Amino acid sequence: MKIEWDPDKMATGVPDVDHQHQEWIQRYNEFDEALSAGHGLEAIRSTLDFFANYAETHFALEEARMAEYNCPAAAANRADHQKMRIILSGLRNYVAKRGASLIEVEGLRQKMSDWLINHILTIDIKLRDCVGKETPSKPNLYPGR
Ligand SMILES: [Fe+2]
Repeated sequence: MKIEWDPDKMATGVPDVDHQHQEWIQRYNEFDEALSAGHGLEAIRSTLDFFANYAETHFALEEARMAEYNCPAAAANRADHQKMRIILSGLRNYVAKRGASLIEVEGLRQKMSDWLINHILTIDIKLRDCVGKETPSKPNLYPGR
């Protein structure tokens, strides 16, 4: 099933993070469409490659933004990112070695969808409160002022 970007529920208020979340959801939706069209196995290889690379780019940006805004969810965010890395590398190894049946591909799709929605709605969204309260921390060039 497609994931719908819902700014009311999902937008963190940090434009580059929100942009990347939308990109990730769009790629997930393309994968979902490929499954519906019966191109599951071909799609899963390229999707997993894309996600594994994109995850690193996105996680690095998002963790930096949480640090800038002193967001208390930073540690939980890093831990949950680590879970996704493990899911992705497990899936890539599995598919590279064994391929995957359609039932397995469906299971992988579900796992990815659950993680993405749950992660954005419960952890990333905590950035929203931090953005409202904090200006990004920058190095203090004039200590003592
Ligand atoms: Fe995150």
